[in-house]
Amino acid sequence: MPTTDRPADARASADRAGSGFAALCADLGLCFGGDYNPEQWPREVWNDDVRLMRRAGVNLVTVGVFSWSRIEPVPGERDFTWLDEVLDLLHENGIAVDLATPTASPPPWLGIRHPETLPVDRDGVRLSAGSRNQFSPASAVYREHALAITRDLAERYARHPSVRMWHVGNEWGQLDHGDEAAREFRLWLRREYATIDALNEAWGTAVWSQRYGSFDEVLPPRRAPYTINPTQSLDFRRYSSDQLLRCYGEQRDAIREAGATQPITTNFMGFFPHADYWSWADAVDVIADDQYPDPGDEHAPADIALVQDLMRSLGGGRPWLLMEQAISAVSWREHNLAKTPQKGRLDSLQAVARGADGICFFQWRQARSGPERFHSAMLPAAGDDSAVFHGVERLGADLRRLRPVVGARVNARVGILFDWPSWWASEEPARPTERLRTIEQVQRWYRVLWRNGVAANVLRPGDDAGDHCVVLVPHSYVIEPGAADALRDAVSGGARLVVGPFSGVADRHGHLLQGRSPALLRDLLGVSGEEWSGLPDGAPLVVDEAWDAAPAVGRTASVLAERLRADGADVLAAFGDGVYAGLPAITRHAFGEGRAWYVGAVVSDELLAAVLTDALRDAGVTNVVGVPPRPEGSLPQGLEAVRRGDHLFLLNHGRHGAELVLPAAMRDLLTDEEFDRAATVAPGAAMVLTERLTT
Ligand code: GLA
Repeated sequence: MPTTDRPADARASADRAGSGFAALCADLGLCFGGDYNPEQWPREVWNDDVRLMRRAGVNLVTVGVFSWSRIEPVPGERDFTWLDEVLDLLHENGIAVDLATPTASPPPWLGIRHPETLPVDRDGVRLSAGSRNQFSPASAVYREHALAITRDLAERYARHPSVRMWHVGNEWGQLDHGDEAAREFRLWLRREYATIDALNEAWGTAVWSQRYGSFDEVLPPRRAPYTINPTQSLDFRRYSSDQLLRCYGEQRDAIREAGATQPITTNFMGFFPHADYWSWADAVDVIADDQYPDPGDEHAPADIALVQDLMRSLGGGRPWLLMEQAISAVSWREHNLAKTPQKGRLDSLQAVARGADGICFFQWRQARSGPERFHSAMLPAAGDDSAVFHGVERLGADLRRLRPVVGARVNARVGILFDWPSWWASEEPARPTERLRTIEQVQRWYRVLWRNGVAANVLRPGDDAGDHCVVLVPHSYVIEPGAADALRDAVSGGARLVVGPFSGVADRHGHLLQGRSPALLRDLLGVSGEEWSGLPDGAPLVVDEAWDAAPAVGRTASVLAERLRADGADVLAAFGDGVYAGLPAITRHAFGEGRAWYVGAVVSDELLAAVLTDALRDAGVTNVVGVPPRPEGSLPQGLEAVRRGDHLFLLNHGRHGAELVLPAAMRDLLTDEEFDRAATVAPGAAMVLTERLTT
């Protein structure tokens, strides 16, 4: 894609910077800090800020994210004097800066002078200034202005000693359905398809008389009388992600061209629906992510662990940076729960356990005005005489103690397949059920691993499964030939594969593959299907009595089922009644040196856990302390256990003390406490254990 191409010299210096985050952490230790918005405060507050940052052990702050209207109050003018002063002050105080291009939020004058820079939604409504992020990634005028200010910023500060990292824009995710977006979308489509006939074929425009005579007739998805062509929507999502990446890439290249050698990045947002982070991953020098799990959600610890494993996997296993999180409550949910300082600490240490070499927050000082005035911050409005700030000081001290963890890797032998286009295609409307949601399924499958202290990598379809002895495919609606081949190779070589319902149904355009389903995996799974049906809740399954892993309770399925036929696979469970009564629901099939399970319905948590632990045990996978997985979990409830390098992280998210038998005599890096055979982790507490040499 031209959008991701970089000039050769920019690429070379980016390669140098690729190791820059490792070098930065080797220098600073684990990064610790947050977004710092001094432009919201009078000058005298800045001294207080740096004094308290030092007290808390802050070593990295992100500056300037929303400062465009401060730097360029009048079109074409620049006021950098305040920023000079801020960067100098931070440098004098030994605090490194992640300097942001301020391009996420243009000043109001841009939209007033150039309305075409403002995005248009599906209903044709042009959005206004007065909030933030009011730009269209398709707008040439926006991009020129964003590039101009980026160039000036980079030229001024590329060699400033405080600047150790660059942060391009913020949380890229803007969509635009307007006329300029239509032009850019058409250019993208021309590159993708070359001819209008190829587009017509790929979009299946023979249906409903949608045939296009030329690219000029094609539009982004807009409000229409009835359901939109699903491939049009799918390609618009691909285009939108690429267009955002293109904007990011332009600014990143401008920073490089100004001579900056620091790592350049931007902040991802976990399983964010509008950017395909597999395609973005190579464009950033360090993977950085914003994470705001809801403290009121009982599944949050496991679900955010999955996001953290995704971030580590996007970076090929390299340490990543938790760029933003909340120390206590956010202010953008309908109902915002605070965290105890201990919970803020636990959440941060969880990210370190799963490969983060930096823990940052939104934001340093709580805003006194604006929409985020009730959003928590490291330094609350109450000041440093507060439980929140004391918690921040403690966290800073903890992170300093964890310096030995810097650079260490998490090794996982289980892989989970996930990619954005398949997610997008699977959730286009008009399908057997709207209740099947890709992320929900990935989360359900992952929770079984989490309860068992089994680490996982997220795999991109088509990637060699490598050392992963178990590969899980919770729900991949689109499986392309290369991805099917990689799965087949893995199982031939001995891997255990578990495939979830409604997988391998469609090609890259979202068109149904012809023949019995899943067309490209039938031989591997030894089972095939011919139709799908929504399923009532609690539909009974009959389990084969010979299946020794079968659960005693929860023999049910819901949401979706398939009309399956075993073509050589063993049937572990069949539908007990309904239209598919007596037909297979869960199967297992030997293939090459390995084995493949197919779960042809959304089965209960108990059945899912039974199937997954069956596969894990079959592959000889044990948890981090050498115990085989169990459907109910092989760790005390609420305890998370992760091994990162030589360090065993124990994080107790539960309400009760959790005792664990240790593989060796160990010492807690956080407290120096020593343990011989077992450790009890108090509720809300964490330990980072390293093997202790006994004499
Ligand atoms: C996002 C943004 C921040 C801030 C936080 C609030 O992560 O990047 O600027 O608005 O949300 O939670």
